[in-house]
Amino acid sequence: MKTKQIILFASGSGSNVENIANYFKFSKDVTISCVLTNKSDAKVIERCNRLGLNALFFNRQAFSKSDFILNMLQSLKPDLIVLAGFLWKIPEAITDAFPNKIVNIHPALLPKYGGKGMYGMNVHNAVKENKELETGITIHYVNANYDEGAIIHQAKTIIERNDTAEDIASKVHQLEYDFFPKIIEDLLSKM
Ligand code: GAR
Repeated sequence: MKTKQIILFASGSGSNVENIANYFKFSKDVTISCVLTNKSDAKVIERCNRLGLNALFFNRQAFSKSDFILNMLQSLKPDLIVLAGFLWKIPEAITDAFPNKIVNIHPALLPKYGGKGMYGMNVHNAVKENKELETGITIHYVNANYDEGAIIHQAKTIIERNDTAEDIASKVHQLEYDFFPKIIEDLLSKM
């Protein structure tokens, strides 16, 4: 089988990027071509340096006010584009160019707690405030609307009464580490 190429997008810490990189470290089937970030001081860049991954920073101009990133993606021809904690909305020119080739992980059970402003701790704080009894992750395709693409996989975790928003975040992160690389592998194996 030809080696599949993936491109990761991340905006912050990048613990999912690191987990995905470790999962595919010895894989002959999957390679990470590069990691793209919209934050020049994001911790994910440090992680990429340590892990030997190509990291590239881009700004709004390159992303949504010109075709720079679109052109770059088209020339790299990734089999899958993976949003691993990426917080900007993907421009329609990119979602149109890569139908069913962009996947996102969301730290809640969509359609609950999705949409603009619903990311990271904002999600877990809202889940805690609403006294939810469970939360989880949603891995879904990306289309032109925030968090609305077809769902590929969801996994749940129980929330205990005493769990803080940080406890919830850590349970959700664990689900992300357990499921995201496997789902990526599964999608690639069917291509
Ligand atoms: C993850 O929990 C991911 O689900 C979330 O950001 C976190 C990034 O963590 N993504 C969103 O909220 C997207 N709306 P990480 O940088 O440690 O991988």
